[in-house]
Amino acid sequence: MAEPLGNIPHLVKRGKATQLVVEGKPFVMLAGEVHNSSSSSLAYMEPIWDRLSALHCNTALAPVSWELLEPREGQFRFDLVDGLVKGAREHGLRLVPLWFGTWKNTWSSYAPGWVKTDLARFPRAQIEPGKNRGAVTCFCEAACEADARAFAALMRHIRDSDGEAHTVIVVQVENETGLLGAARDHCALAEARFKEKVPAELMSYLQEHKEALHTTVRWAWATTGRKASGTWQQVFGEVADEVFMAWHIARYVDRVAAAGRAEYPVPMFANAWLVQNEGQKPGEYPSGGPVSRMMDVWRCAAPHVAVLAPDIYLADFAAVCAEYARGGNPLLIPEARRSEEAAANAFYAVGQHDAICFAPFGIDGVPVEHPLGRSYELLSSMMPIIAEHQGSGRMIGILQRDKEAQETDLGGYRLRIRFRAPRQEGKVPGGGLIIAAADDEYIVAGVGFSVEFLPRPGGPPNVDFLALDEGEYRDGQWVQGRRLNGDEYALALGDRPAVRRAKLYSYA
Ligand code: DGJ
Repeated sequence: MAEPLGNIPHLVKRGKATQLVVEGKPFVMLAGEVHNSSSSSLAYMEPIWDRLSALHCNTALAPVSWELLEPREGQFRFDLVDGLVKGAREHGLRLVPLWFGTWKNTWSSYAPGWVKTDLARFPRAQIEPGKNRGAVTCFCEAACEADARAFAALMRHIRDSDGEAHTVIVVQVENETGLLGAARDHCALAEARFKEKVPAELMSYLQEHKEALHTTVRWAWATTGRKASGTWQQVFGEVADEVFMAWHIARYVDRVAAAGRAEYPVPMFANAWLVQNEGQKPGEYPSGGPVSRMMDVWRCAAPHVAVLAPDIYLADFAAVCAEYARGGNPLLIPEARRSEEAAANAFYAVGQHDAICFAPFGIDGVPVEHPLGRSYELLSSMMPIIAEHQGSGRMIGILQRDKEAQETDLGGYRLRIRFRAPRQEGKVPGGGLIIAAADDEYIVAGVGFSVEFLPRPGGPPNVDFLALDEGEYRDGQWVQGRRLNGDEYALALGDRPAVRRAKLYSYA
């Protein structure tokens, strides 16, 4: 029998942060996402579990496709998903199934054959009238119902088979939704819906959140005189096509998520293929997907989707994190670059934005000696301390960008961060996290940077260490190593992720 709902993994607010609670404790997914085809074969997955463990991951993100779950309509096969749960469990990992249903990177390539081949029952999106795409249109009622039914069957099965062990903790619904090739769908169903009025629900949401809306939506609405009602074109002017698509795709995804949550309500998220540069137009990136400028629309349209999640392949990792941590959206990164920078980015996302997940894509291609492994090991060992400081305003992330020095106030002092070497392709950039455990006590973890402690304006001018220690955490407990004095009397982290504790004092 499944356990009572209270024990199911869930999200809770803590200060400004949102924590993912698993078995009663805050949990940060130090994860990796496997390549698209890996989890379609349990034999192929076998060595990958060991790799995830060797990299000190605590969670695997792996596709579960509609096609393999329901090869014939109404006939479900759960052997693959059971094998994934078993594989994860045997390796002490949690699992995040990625539901590849109607959408996979805007396409319906993972829909079952009986969906793909029946264009009368499951019509396609059209980039101009009559020109079909490889994607089922989001305006197809039958597809939404069928997808939701399959997803509900999956979640019911997970509840029945894993509702006590909680190997599955979170689920992604669909993958990188949106339409490519045009800003909006032009199939007959879509054309009819485009003439409708903007739903009253979205209009009220805009009114209620008008000060906090993303600039794109705020600006578009302002250009039409902030109309209280009207058609999509009348209310949203230049961005009408994209808002229209975002609303209807989010509605579709929400129905799928709701059907799954009705069976087993673990937190669910939707991931985004991001706008690649400011010059891109909707359709050049997936129009209607949960890109940051459409987050308000998604929030309103998809209440069963708890998190909107960025797939971060862009160079400015920190900027994307900031966009997606906006408006109380928990930062969950299901895909990120797997190059060396991942070893620093993991610290930054967790330290600066209380991220609940960091997952490089293609973890099965990451060598076990990748520096990410050491970052994950260190972060795991510190997890109780990190959890205690989430949302407190006393934890920050550090990430080397263009500037070689950064200053910030934290605890009772001003901190000057310097990076060990200029940022270089193929090398781990400087990155880490700093916790002010007290006004005069700091925990500094990461790689490739040093911290100098300066007085705050108006404070006594001299600042010095009372104690500077190296050591490590074991299950959240500090295990003291060397006391650093004399020639080692500086808080500097080298090429291998490490942790230091410093106690300070100041005098006139
Ligand atoms: C983003 C998608 O979400 C993934 O499934 C995968 O296709 C990667 N792109 C490949 O880079």
